[in-house]
Amino acid sequence: MKQILLILMLLLVAGPSQAAPNGDRLYQDKCEACHGKNGRGGVGVPLSLPAFQRDASDEFLKKTIQHGRPGRVMPAFMNLSEAQLSALIKTLRSFVDQPLKPGKTPATIRGNAARGSKLYAGNCTGCHGAQGEGGKGTGVTFSRPRDAEIIAPSLRNPGFQLAASDKMIWQTLAHGREGTPMPSFLKQGLSEQQISDLVAYIRTLEPRTPTHAMEPVPPFLHAETEDTLEEVLEAVKKAVVAANFRLIRVQKFEQGMVKQDTENPDKIIVYFCNFGLLNKALAIDPRVGLFLPCRLTLVRENDKITLYTMNPETVSGNFNNLELEQLCQQMRATYEAILEEVTL
Ligand code: HEC
Ligand code: HEC
Repeated sequence: MKQILLILMLLLVAGPSQAAPNGDRLYQDKCEACHGKNGRGGVGVPLSLPAFQRDASDEFLKKTIQHGRPGRVMPAFMNLSEAQLSALIKTLRSFVDQPLKPGKTPATIRGNAARGSKLYAGNCTGCHGAQGEGGKGTGVTFSRPRDAEIIAPSLRNPGFQLAASDKMIWQTLAHGREGTPMPSFLKQGLSEQQISDLVAYIRTLEPRTPTHAMEPVPPFLHAETEDTLEEVLEAVKKAVVAANFRLIRVQKFEQGMVKQDTENPDKIIVYFCNFGLLNKALAIDPRVGLFLPCRLTLVRENDKITLYTMNPETVSGNFNNLELEQLCQQMRATYEAILEEVTL
């Protein structure tokens, strides 16, 4: 009996919470679905390439795991303990049999961003986009057979800017990422100073996050009119069609939420869609399905009708994708035109 008690106590003291985290299991649980078995790549870029591992310091890996790449597919894993992060990094390191020696990097990296900007335009835009926004899409387009092209990451992404040191960027530019389309620019004929200029320029790319927006984006767009609900509804239908949308349906706002025939008659929602626009948006990122089709809510209160719609720009703010941002700006302008048309 005493022995059993002793074993029980030992188990309690050295229970599973005390065990060192298992990096392999963490990787299988949290990363493998995207980055593939042993980091071979899949939806996520390969993590097993010796050239990537040479560039990526433990600090870079840790910050990338913790902060992810906001707006791209790479999630942020904010709740991992230091011990779990270390175990994961050890597992990532085990994917490479023979680590490459780091290439030469200058002791201090001092570049001229204006010169870097010209070099960027001449050498990088084709893959990383005119403003460092990365290859087409938000990383979802990484879904691909394993041997398909690896899409260039966004360099203005706040997660990347936070995780990457100047030295890491210098090293990547100078020596390239063998096994991916990213070339070595020393081999392409740039000088060490020109590479430092490029690093300086990349540092000027402002991360695009909602907190960095120049002006706050209102979450809703709205307009008011003193016409009757019936008149406003007819005007909305006309304006929507005139703006090249197809009317999908008109329903009481509360339909399906409360018992039939008890829905508030003063709250109406109009659904409409432009299938060309829809397909364009979905091609950029399937997650925009969250706010499509378009809808407009009409509310009657004190003999006034208020029209509300969600501002598409608040959504694109979460995606950090210039293409989507432009589309959502265009959508906001269209919504505003419809509201104006209806309430003028
Ligand atoms: C839902 C898919 C997904 C999951 C889950 C995921 N990643 Fe990623 N990861 C990506 C994508 C896509 C990228 C490329 C980011 C970009 O396009 O900017 C990426 C990028 C990275 C990078 C940067 C690579 C580089 O070239 O700089 C690291 C490091 C990384 N992931 C590690 C991890 C680890 C470790 C885990 C698990 C804890 C994980 N990822 C989970 C999709 C994922
Ligand atoms: C032919 C296409 C191509 C060109 C041209 C190119 N890149 Fe890349 N670049 C890539 C790809 C693809 C990756 C991702 C490699 C990987 O998965 O490890 C990458 C990775 C990078 C990274 C590391 C990002 C990360 O998340 O780890 C930096 C920094 C970078 N490129 C900067 C540049 C700059 C600056 C130029 C111009 C001087 C340039 N690239 C030119 C395709 C390209």
